[in-house]
Amino acid sequence: MEFSRASMISCFALLLCSSLAYGASSPPAPMAMSPSPTPAPAPAPEYVNLTYLLSVAGPFHTFLNYLESTKVLDTFQNQANNTDQGITIFVPKDSAFKALKKPSLSNLTNDQLKSLILFHAMPKFYSLADFNKLSTKGPVSTLAGSQYSLNFTDNSGTVHLDSGWSKTKVSSAVHSTDPVAIYQVDKVLLPEAIFGTDIPPMPPAPAPAPDISPAADAPSAETKGKGSSSKAEPSTSSSHRIMNFGTWNQLLLALFGGWVMFF
Ligand SMILES: *[C@@H]1O[C@H](CO)[C@@H](O)[C@H](O)[C@H]1NC(C)=O
Ligand SMILES: *[C@@H]1O[C@H](CO)[C@@H](O)[C@H](O)[C@H]1NC(C)=O
Ligand SMILES: *[C@@H]1O[C@H](CO)[C@@H](O)[C@H](O)[C@H]1NC(C)=O
Ligand SMILES: *[C@@H]1O[C@H](CO)[C@@H](O)[C@H](O)[C@H]1NC(C)=O
Repeated sequence: MEFSRASMISCFALLLCSSLAYGASSPPAPMAMSPSPTPAPAPAPEYVNLTYLLSVAGPFHTFLNYLESTKVLDTFQNQANNTDQGITIFVPKDSAFKALKKPSLSNLTNDQLKSLILFHAMPKFYSLADFNKLSTKGPVSTLAGSQYSLNFTDNSGTVHLDSGWSKTKVSSAVHSTDPVAIYQVDKVLLPEAIFGTDIPPMPPAPAPAPDISPAADAPSAETKGKGSSSKAEPSTSSSHRIMNFGTWNQLLLALFGGWVMFF
């Protein structure tokens, strides 16, 4: 009796160890002998869920809706999964779309709208520091194609963008870890390739702007530097939650396995 109890306990310990060591991803392998218990399971590969990031930050719902309706989301996510080059996305907040009265996006064809959304990204990861070099390069083409280009200026650390129609700046970094950079910009980027070069000298409707922008900036008051790390957390913590759930499942399985074996 004593013997069987002891062996039962050691068997449980073994099952426990192995299920812990193998973590959530691999199927249970109760009989595998792992002489040196591996430390904590390796973190999941660097998959960045753009839908998730954009739905918790911002608010960027308008941009996310356009991404989904034009299916550009697949293009972006595909580029993000492609860790060789990565992606840099400039995301206007909902208030920027609201402030956009003229020219309006409602008259655009589906193809033009798609190009406009693609115009907000470049097929390469750029950290904020990289824009210093980019600003000397002249027009940089976007995912919409070479005739859809942006000019950058690095004004002592603040990145300014110029699309011809839109002159704006990066107001915070939502995520900036190779291969995915997401920067919040203050305006919707309007390309000359769609709206032409006949740009009105001063974009109309700056009058109601003070009403919108400072107040709209307040709720998500991330500072430029902190934005990247604090916004990265929700995704990692949620993957930890999933991992923990898997581990508990394995523990339960292991315990059941033990009982069945002995009774
Ligand atoms: C990405 O995040 C969204 C929103 O949180 C979720 O609905 C979707 O299932 C996630 N996709 C993957 C592949 O995990
Ligand atoms: C990106 O990778 C994730 C996780 O591997 C996968 O679920 C998703 O389908 C991929 N998306 C694209 C567009 O490649
Ligand atoms: C939409 O297009 C019509 C016809 O071309 C034009 O009259 C109208 O002003 C446009 N509306 C906006 C908001 O640009
Ligand atoms: C970008 O800068 C170049 C000169 O370096 C200029 O010719 C071009 O018009 C600018 N493009 C935009 C969209 O501002």
